[in-house]
Amino acid sequence: MTQPRQMRQEDIKAVGDLWKTEYKNEHPLDPDEKLNSRLDSMVQDDLPEAVAASSGYVCEARGKIIGFMTLTTPRSKPYIDNLYVSSEHRRQRVATKLVTKAQELHDSLTLHVFQDAIPAIKLYEKCGFKCKYCKVGENKDKNSMEWSRR
Ligand SMILES: CC(C)(COP(=O)(O)OP(=O)(O)OC[C@H]1O[C@@H](n2cnc3c(N)ncnc32)[C@H](O)[C@@H]1OP(=O)(O)O)[C@@H](O)C(=O)NCCC(=O)NCCS
Repeated sequence: MTQPRQMRQEDIKAVGDLWKTEYKNEHPLDPDEKLNSRLDSMVQDDLPEAVAASSGYVCEARGKIIGFMTLTTPRSKPYIDNLYVSSEHRRQRVATKLVTKAQELHDSLTLHVFQDAIPAIKLYEKCGFKCKYCKVGENKDKNSMEWSRR
């Protein structure tokens, strides 16, 4: 597996395909039509923006993209916007590498994560993030987490 590198224009198709596949796995109950149009606009808007802003990162294995992260700076602190790893490559520290990259680039980070996304919450805790507003739940409300270098 490679170290994270910046997302490029030519990666957008592969990253978009990974995102769509994994997002659908995470939202199995959403109707396909609604999900497809939401995903199409996310992919069409968010990924080119991340490439233009040099704020997208990917990890590869054998020339194939297996994980990606996008960062934004909407408020005072940089924000981890999206982080996805392909199902076949999970628990191999791909996400840890991407989050570590974000921590090398910034002194502080924030993010929102669904209350029922236990793997993601555990990952962020392991990377040193603390809950700002967190509940453990089974719904699609989002927790807020923060990390600062000290
Ligand atoms: C969350 C996600 C990005 C983790 O990716 P990953 O590459 O498998 O994570 P890592 O291998 O780096 O895991 C690091 C640590 O996180 C925790 N973790 C990761 N997946 C876990 C799981 N399924 N259950 C419990 N803990 C988990 C563990 O502490 C793990 O360390 P360990 O393997 O030594 O026990 C991946 O599961 C994913 O893409 N999920 C769907 C999208 C998502 O929820 N994204 C976050 C949105 S904010």
